[in-house]
Amino acid sequence: MLQEKIKQFTQEIEQFKASSAADVENFRLKFLVSKGIVKSLFEEFKSVSNEEKRVLGKVLNEFKQLAENTFQEALSAFGKEKAAIKRQEGDLTLPGEGLQLGSRHPLSLVRKEIVEIFKKLGFIVAEGPEIEDDWHNFSALNFPPEHPARDMQDTFFIKKQDGNDIALRTHTSSVQVRLMEAGKPPFRAIMPGRVYRNEAISARAHCFFHQVEGLYVDENVSFADLKQTLFHFVQELYGEGTKVRFRPSYFPFTEPSAEMDISCTICKGAGCNLCKGSGWVEILGCGMVDPNVLENCGIDSKKYSGFAFGMGIERITNLKYEIKDLRLFSENDVRFLSQFETELI
Ligand code: PHE
Repeated sequence: MLQEKIKQFTQEIEQFKASSAADVENFRLKFLVSKGIVKSLFEEFKSVSNEEKRVLGKVLNEFKQLAENTFQEALSAFGKEKAAIKRQEGDLTLPGEGLQLGSRHPLSLVRKEIVEIFKKLGFIVAEGPEIEDDWHNFSALNFPPEHPARDMQDTFFIKKQDGNDIALRTHTSSVQVRLMEAGKPPFRAIMPGRVYRNEAISARAHCFFHQVEGLYVDENVSFADLKQTLFHFVQELYGEGTKVRFRPSYFPFTEPSAEMDISCTICKGAGCNLCKGSGWVEILGCGMVDPNVLENCGIDSKKYSGFAFGMGIERITNLKYEIKDLRLFSENDVRFLSQFETELI
């Protein structure tokens, strides 16, 4: 009997108390979908007598209203929970998205390699400030005031302090001075660091770059020691059989001074674009520490002698990886950076 059924379901709905979003959903499935109870009672209603229809029509409509209201109330209580359940849906058996590992910057890789080679020869690593005074960047290194050699390196001056210029260091040679002032010979150190020069940025020049300075001071240090040390360094870095040659040059802080070339790493000396057909590429400046520099740092130049050298890390890196544009080193383009060794620790 329809009337009986309505009564029974009315009771059931009145007693219904949702305690989760799942209860609400089950309620909907039971009463409100197209094959649910409400619809089926309306179907049954079609076949009752006219007399019954008059009474039951109202009752059935009230029942439908009750079912819908109960559903809406329960939905507003647990709707948020339902949304949360929705969000969790998805295939939990799919593999997760891997975290991308960072990679080492090519300049860091090469700096590390250079440092390792010299460490094995007993060189320690020393560092100094990037903001330097005139004394450490120029005067102690035998650049007299107003001397045109100061123009060899275009300087970013910051301010004057007690009549002295404060500037961004133009080379790591300033660290030599700090090291020698602070200690007693023998010195055997390499000094990696960033340096600055007031130059227009292009593929071949930048306003900052990196250098590694080397200094060896002791009794009886000779030019032969300098040559042998740098020859060994080049064999380690570029492989056995790499040739070196020294061309006379000038630096205020070394006498005699030289620039060192190596046989071209690309064409092995045959001549190519990189070495402009000469078979040689320049990689560093070097020389015997000028006695004036030793004296400026409080070291007896009669007793001690030494050699120094300085190289640009960018240059060494370019030769190793054939990077043609210096700007790539500082633009943080992941497409470029991700081509180098991945950092695992
Ligand atoms: N400081 C020099 C430069 O920046 C390089 C150099 C270092 C040369 C040590 C000789 C000795 O060009």
